[in-house]
Amino acid sequence: MSRVPKLRVCVVGSGGREHALAVAIARTADVVVCDGNAGMSALGVRCVAGPPESLDADLFVIGPEAPLVDGLADRLRAATGRLVLGPGADGARLEGSKAWMKAVLAEAGVPTAPYQAFSAAEPAIEFLRSLPAPWVVKTDGLAAGKGVLVTDDLSEAEADVRAKLSGRSFGDAGRRIVIEQGLTGPELSVMALCDGRRAVPLAAAQDFKRAGDGDMGPNTGGMGAFSPVPGADRELVDQVIDKAICPTLEALQNRGIDFRGVLYAGLIMAPGGASVLEFNVRFGDPETEVVLPRWEGDVAGVLAAAAAGRLDEVDPPQFSAQAAVCVVLAAPGYPLTPETGDPIAGLADAARLVEVYSAGVGPAPSGDGLVTAGGRVVALTGLGPTLEAARHRVYDAVPAIAWRGLTYRSDIAAVASAL
Ligand code: GLY
Repeated sequence: MSRVPKLRVCVVGSGGREHALAVAIARTADVVVCDGNAGMSALGVRCVAGPPESLDADLFVIGPEAPLVDGLADRLRAATGRLVLGPGADGARLEGSKAWMKAVLAEAGVPTAPYQAFSAAEPAIEFLRSLPAPWVVKTDGLAAGKGVLVTDDLSEAEADVRAKLSGRSFGDAGRRIVIEQGLTGPELSVMALCDGRRAVPLAAAQDFKRAGDGDMGPNTGGMGAFSPVPGADRELVDQVIDKAICPTLEALQNRGIDFRGVLYAGLIMAPGGASVLEFNVRFGDPETEVVLPRWEGDVAGVLAAAAAGRLDEVDPPQFSAQAAVCVVLAAPGYPLTPETGDPIAGLADAARLVEVYSAGVGPAPSGDGLVTAGGRVVALTGLGPTLEAARHRVYDAVPAIAWRGLTYRSDIAAVASAL
């Protein structure tokens, strides 16, 4: 009897999100991560050096936004003729330019906060002063998730406008900015897998963007997440698909854009309904670290179907009743000035207790052991029958890992697990 060969999947990227993708994909496929990191290798994931164009795979899954905005998906499709999950540079512009994203949302009739885009300080500040608090100032271009200021302090917002537009704080990414009225309410992340024409939702998650407990401190790439989210039932997720994801996909189609990848809607649950704060064109990080462990079945097959434009030929993703809570362990000084190069102890010990997803981890210069090599170093995910159980599980595992100045939030999922 002949056996169908396993799909060969290459996950492109080197963070915790790519590690979580690799683990879920490996349930049914052969997987390599390009470039990955030393922590992933230590935990048994096959990592290979790039560029991805030089590798052979049946399916490429591109994790981070920067290579998507830079056209990696286009190059891979042209050079290899293989399946690629990730939009071309045209669709990735949705994340690469906040002003363009807002224009697409407006055209598509997707609910979003009032905004304007600026390249000069005086009109920007005039607009800022016309809005009620809180104020939101975003770099138009990519800034590794750190280009957004949300503040109740008008003088801080004005100073941020000047720093961004002058190029002082984020270089060229900030020479154009989007100012919008801040909306308040609980946040929700809904990711949908798109095949150009169709979209299917993944389980909803909640992300914690601020560095400190109680949502204090600067914005980060994300300090933790949990899934499922109480109150974000299937009906609510379907509403997000109908009112935000599908209209956006259609607006992209109207522009001739064949979007095959993940549309990630960052939402705020305002009193009048959900409103889109941002769209990303990839899996969220750390949302992936709580959603993928809950995804049951053939993850690789569904991702391949999306990349092939054939989501109608596979069963939609199903998620276990288990709860997942992820806590990001970061380097001291993250996100402003992360200090790296410190020896890491206990990675394998923690992996015996919870899911460990390696991000900013590098080889020790001596060749023996691992050191911190980025701001977000490791993401730990605990699973359990309830959010409370999953939360206990992950926080109980944190002391297994150590490096100098290790920092993390102690309130991930605290409010939700007490509901
Ligand atoms: N967790 C937010 C993001 O992935 O952009």
